[in-house]
Amino acid sequence: MFIANWKMNGSLTMLEEWLKGVGKTLNKSLQKQCLLCPPVCFLSEASNLISKLNLSISLGAQNIDPSSISSLTGGIDGSMLRSIGSEFVIIGHSERRDIFKEGDSLLLEKLKSASEEGLKVVFCIGESLSEKEQNQTLNILRQQLKIIKKVELNEFMIAYEPVWAIGTGNTANIDYIDKIHKEIIDEVTSYQKEGFLGICYGGSVDSSISKDILSIKGVQGLLIGGASLECEEFCNIVLTNNRN
Ligand code: 13P
Repeated sequence: MFIANWKMNGSLTMLEEWLKGVGKTLNKSLQKQCLLCPPVCFLSEASNLISKLNLSISLGAQNIDPSSISSLTGGIDGSMLRSIGSEFVIIGHSERRDIFKEGDSLLLEKLKSASEEGLKVVFCIGESLSEKEQNQTLNILRQQLKIIKKVELNEFMIAYEPVWAIGTGNTANIDYIDKIHKEIIDEVTSYQKEGFLGICYGGSVDSSISKDILSIKGVQGLLIGGASLECEEFCNIVLTNNRN
């Protein structure tokens, strides 16, 4: 799966151009492997455009609020996301963990809400630079994965995004990604979880490196930030998938 995480970027004009570009460049089978996660305010229009342009790309939200908190100014819960065309939701992105201090108990509530609404989850994990330097990577990842055991999810992907690789141009090297993905697969499958769709890698992915990353057996997809904003570059990444 190729996940375009636009973060806090984009406009209605860009959305229309981007989706038209995807429709012209990618065949239906490749479109089915794509997931667009624009800012939530564009999801409804994205859904309309996908129908109008007869595209097969899926939609996801970048965040969800727990439905257990009924009075939450500015909140958007899973049923609202569903009603505007979202099939997936990203939970646990390092930017939200760092900036909004989202910790395990809140993330667990978010996972439960996604599960209750039948949303598919992209659950992000990753170590910081200092954690990597202190040889804490595997401990941190196992700790972050623990809450997955506490909730019955529908279909879910794990996104491994080393924090030091996000937006820095320092893509993790191939051996490192291979090693870490194997460890994550062992950990998640040891819970004997149904619905596990595999692991995608994220962190400074572009079309110059995507083919090498996708050639790693344990990599089932890519979570792409900056490089997903340009339709041509995003499509180039999808087209480097030598598994087609
Ligand atoms: P970049 O691809 O810009 O490094 O962002 C990765 C990311 O955080 C995607 O969720």
